[in-house]
Amino acid sequence: MCGIVGYVGQQEAVGVVVEGLRRLEYRGYDSAGVALASAGGLHVAKRAGKLANLDKVLAEQPPAPTTTGIGHTRWATHGAPNDVNAHPHTDCHGRIAVIHNGIIENFAELRDTLERAGHEMDSETDTEVVAHLLEEVLPACDDDLGEALRTVCRLLRGAFTLVVVDAQDPDTVVAARRSSPLVVGRGDGENFVASDVSAFIAHTRDAVELGQDQVVVVTRDHVVITDFHGQPAEGTPYQVDWDASAAEKGGYDWFMLKEIDEQPQAVADTLLGRLSPNGTLQLDEMRLSDDDLRDVNKVIIVSCGTSFYSGLVAKYAIEHWTRLPCEVELASEFRYRDPVLDRSTLVVAITQSGETMDTLMATRYARAQRAKVLAICNTNGSTIPRESDAVIYTHAGPEVAVASTKCFLAQIVACYLLGLYLAQVRGTKYGDEIATILDQLHGIPAAVQIMLDGAEQVRALARELVGATSVLFLGRHVGYPVALEGALKLKELAYLHAEGFAAGELKHGPIALVDEGVPVFVVAPPRAREVLHDKVVSNIQEVRARGARTIVLAEDGDESVVPYADELIWLPRVPTLLQPLVATVPLQLFACELAAALGHDVDQPRNLAKSVTVE
Ligand code: F6R
Repeated sequence: MCGIVGYVGQQEAVGVVVEGLRRLEYRGYDSAGVALASAGGLHVAKRAGKLANLDKVLAEQPPAPTTTGIGHTRWATHGAPNDVNAHPHTDCHGRIAVIHNGIIENFAELRDTLERAGHEMDSETDTEVVAHLLEEVLPACDDDLGEALRTVCRLLRGAFTLVVVDAQDPDTVVAARRSSPLVVGRGDGENFVASDVSAFIAHTRDAVELGQDQVVVVTRDHVVITDFHGQPAEGTPYQVDWDASAAEKGGYDWFMLKEIDEQPQAVADTLLGRLSPNGTLQLDEMRLSDDDLRDVNKVIIVSCGTSFYSGLVAKYAIEHWTRLPCEVELASEFRYRDPVLDRSTLVVAITQSGETMDTLMATRYARAQRAKVLAICNTNGSTIPRESDAVIYTHAGPEVAVASTKCFLAQIVACYLLGLYLAQVRGTKYGDEIATILDQLHGIPAAVQIMLDGAEQVRALARELVGATSVLFLGRHVGYPVALEGALKLKELAYLHAEGFAAGELKHGPIALVDEGVPVFVVAPPRAREVLHDKVVSNIQEVRARGARTIVLAEDGDESVVPYADELIWLPRVPTLLQPLVATVPLQLFACELAAALGHDVDQPRNLAKSVTVE
């Protein structure tokens, strides 16, 4: 999730573009760069790190005055966050500059073809191929940049917003979108393109959201939209009525709410680019060989907090698909118990930030014991992936709210990809079985969207329960970590007593907490897991008989829970192992709404930090 801005108008472009980037920095801050187009050619400046580093370069080497430019602030996906991988990327002759948000799935094949044709690439990014493809096709398109970008878009697979400028046509910015955001800002004698309106609302509030698979050619006085085949198309015009800080949050009250709503995209992006041309699973950031993975005889997941709970979910799938034993350990406890590790142990460190000290220390300990370490991480170039033997990145984009939401879902997806990959390499699942599970995973963004569309039911419930002093969460199997996560969200945001329990453990003690009116959330497994399901239905009856107010999350159409539920939250039908990806969403929304109703700062709860860099 990068930030993108483009400008053509009458003002000094560098100022407008850099100011736009400042407003977009929340979308990514690994590196930043600009390309300014003028009759004298392109001026490209880019630097790793925060925008301040780019400011310094531009102050030291000011570009020639011009009124056309593009800028990018990066959240790295392909390639480390360094100067070379920073956007914009250019073609062989420095004529075309490209910025990109998203993932081009077939970039490796395209890069190979381009390199065979003599193109030289500087970076490790998927983006750079676009600049070289444009260089290839421009002559056949009569040097028409719009036509060239349409031609290139038809060659690309994946998700992308692309913005390009051509030194030989310095009064035009061309942009394209597929499954990544792009909005046009229409001004008076000036026009803008950006990943979101916050980049230009200081200049205009007249916006047009581009549709799927559209290209827009923007000049000072014109905005022309077509589809990828050149047919005239229309975007969706609207007036922006947010202030600048609300615009950063996409109009949401809290980053957390925005991030909850971004979950379909986070899941979809984490799944992107994982299939090789022959249909097998590929994890291209995997630096462990298939032989290394065949050698593994035990998996240990280490992580903290919400990332720990994603590991608890993953354990069920990894053991089921690979038949390897999988332990899940709190990173802060791991190295103090003298764990049994050797070269055949695969230690998986799950971390959003890549900087959590407890997890870092656990991975260092594991490596010292010669175990193989694989990081599942959302932050490219952070310490834990750097120090690991392999990495699978979650492509959730920056998570600004302290409470983790979209990264939890993306972590589960990444763990499942790892589980399926191990199963593929070790031959514990047939290719068609893996393909079926991947298909089911690809259905999850739509299922999560159904949960988001029903948010108001949960939010109303939260407002109703604002006086609760204690809330319990129950689940079995993969529903158990969902219960733990629901309780953690409520503790950290609403500062309420909340506990998650394995539903079967209830009778061994916690049921004493149940009293008249205590809200108890219960995650009911899909009916396909009959034994599991029936046991949970009994648990719902047990707590209800003791006065609990039961809030049941159950598969759509599961009539068996209806008599015992004071409130029913229907979940779309998905396989049992995938149910956490939908069942967690209402619990996040519940905690967020309850905390807001109590007047708490949802994005920055008391006593907490986004990245915990102390042990
Ligand atoms: C809770 C939360 C924390 C983090 C934990 C690990 O909402 O965000 O529990 O999950 O501090 O952080 P990472 O994943 O960065 O290692």
